[in-house]
Amino acid sequence: MTEAKLEAWLDETRSFAPSPQFSKQANAQPSIYEEASADPVTWWRREAERLTWHDEPTNTLEWDMPFAKWFSDGTLNASVNCVDRHVAAGRGDRVAYHWVGDAEGESRTITYADLQSMVNKTANALIEMGVKNGDRVAVYMPMIPEAVVAMLAIVRLGAAHSVVFAGFSADALSSRILDSDCQFVVTADGAFRRGAASPLKPAVDEALESCPNVKSVLVVRRTADDVNWVEGRDVWWHEIVERQSDVHTPDYFPSEQTMIIMYTSGTTAKPKGIYHTTGGYLTQVASTYMNVFDVKPDTDVCWTAADIGWITGHSYIVYGPLINCATQIMYEGVPDSGGKDRWWRIIEQYKVTILYTAPTTIRTLMKWGDDLPKGHDLSSLRLLGTVGEPINPEAWMWYREHIGGNRCPIVDTWWQTETGAILISPLPGITATKPGAAMRALPGIGVDVVDNDGNSVGNGEGGYLVITHPWPAMTRGIYGDPERFKETYWTRFPGKYFAGDGAKRDDDGDLWLLGRIDDVMNISGHRLSTTEVEHALVGHPAVAEAAVVGASDDTTGQAIVAFVTLKMSTDDASKDQVAVIEELRLHVARVISPIAKPRQIILTPELPKTRSGKIMRRLLRDVAENRSLGDVTTLTDPTVVNMISELMGTEASSDD
Ligand code: WTA
Repeated sequence: MTEAKLEAWLDETRSFAPSPQFSKQANAQPSIYEEASADPVTWWRREAERLTWHDEPTNTLEWDMPFAKWFSDGTLNASVNCVDRHVAAGRGDRVAYHWVGDAEGESRTITYADLQSMVNKTANALIEMGVKNGDRVAVYMPMIPEAVVAMLAIVRLGAAHSVVFAGFSADALSSRILDSDCQFVVTADGAFRRGAASPLKPAVDEALESCPNVKSVLVVRRTADDVNWVEGRDVWWHEIVERQSDVHTPDYFPSEQTMIIMYTSGTTAKPKGIYHTTGGYLTQVASTYMNVFDVKPDTDVCWTAADIGWITGHSYIVYGPLINCATQIMYEGVPDSGGKDRWWRIIEQYKVTILYTAPTTIRTLMKWGDDLPKGHDLSSLRLLGTVGEPINPEAWMWYREHIGGNRCPIVDTWWQTETGAILISPLPGITATKPGAAMRALPGIGVDVVDNDGNSVGNGEGGYLVITHPWPAMTRGIYGDPERFKETYWTRFPGKYFAGDGAKRDDDGDLWLLGRIDDVMNISGHRLSTTEVEHALVGHPAVAEAAVVGASDDTTGQAIVAFVTLKMSTDDASKDQVAVIEELRLHVARVISPIAKPRQIILTPELPKTRSGKIMRRLLRDVAENRSLGDVTTLTDPTVVNMISELMGTEASSDD
């Protein structure tokens, strides 16, 4: 869709009505909103019936702000819910994962019966290694089925896993192991990426030099490289797991048993160990998976294109889908492993019906051109999802038109590591969708947008996103630091969860997420979102990607600095950089307002991103303000930072 067409379309309709095809067959029907809002706590108790409880809970919510307990007298086993009960119900032959390797042609099919046998053997192996109820186990693994198996085996024993994204450094791994005192690590010798093996075990060895409490390391052989071996500590997966019995009789644990620890960055340098407990978390991931993605487990092939090292992988590759006995794709590679059309080939081959990914990936795929998806049959797709950051309308429309064939609803899902599950999203078949808007709170969730004093803002106004009452999958806290938990999330607006995101209610009352609060700029007293300016820039036909920061400015408080990647290479653009920059500034002024005109625009061939694909805006702000760069270990390519710093010396700017 051209920019002119997009603008014309936006002016005319601004929203897509729910598709009648979805409305007829949707898992969720419109009455769900009223049913849930009439009595959210009771409604969640009913949703908890999606799980198989060993002892049915009689308690629902106990709320001692900000500490919640859900279903506290219930007992269950997460792994039984994900695997055993499906096999017992005769669904053992159903495929749990079509695993697709990084290398062309490498794949595995894992049924629920296979998964049961693998999980039981692994649970028995972990017992032999000494893992027991209440322990913490770090998982540092590539995207291979054994990663999921390890997670399920750990929680099966009543231990908690702390999955650390395999792209993190040894330092990051050791600080996470130490923070939650993990005594075991599950890892692999290495991982594959675009055909090349990269070692993982050396990072574990290095990390463990400062983690004396780690007793045992379970190592999957993936790349078959030579590895350093610590006798008495390291154990090969194929040696210890394979010889175990595939029978394991589970114990049952309280609903509030901790099952997940997931580190996420906060405003300080020390990552927060967000932890989740069992019954509430599983209830809500099960419920949202079925309602938001409208999954029909008998027929759908679902692909959450994320890494298990992040919360999206936990909730929508592992627990949500498995609880519902869904069939999924698990893909090891990056989007261009084996060619830039790899994704479209996977969708065609496995007839994927539901695709869930991040805006940053959509923009990358978009940059690679329309011809790639056009060359493949994507007609199996029936629903698309996005998560992780605000999606700009142009990427949303491209996703809809070029991937979804204008027939698939798009669910823009807002949530966080802390929320455990999706909280804000359209429901397909019920809610209208708008390009760039997450629309409304899901049933059973109370959301508000408030001003500085905590008062609700009206339609057409922006403010801070807060969650007004407890929800089952909410984090129970920051591991070992209840004070930080209170202070970070519950103090700014007492009694309400402060998400740290800006949001706007449009004239219809629908929600638009505007990015992190720390990315909201104040320019001469005008509040402007970095995202809004980014949307505007990315809406220009020459722009591939843009990151905007508010840099401090003596006169205006903050000033807008934009880092922009052009669709053509920057070298090409250098023919007339000043003209391009001026054109972009005018474009932003046209789309938003002259007050949103960037003070500086820096053209750069790439933007610095974290390994999870998020643009590092804080770092860009440091660059823009010429501050020291600090720790950049989570960058995909630290050289980009140097390059951007250099560019700062040569950028074109304007000061009118
Ligand atoms: C952002 C990822 C706009 C938001 C599941 C949030 C989004 C942070 C959206 C959490 C969305 C996530 N629209 N922004 N649909 N989804 N975010 O913990 O700023 O990695 O606070 O969890 O991502 O990131 P996290």
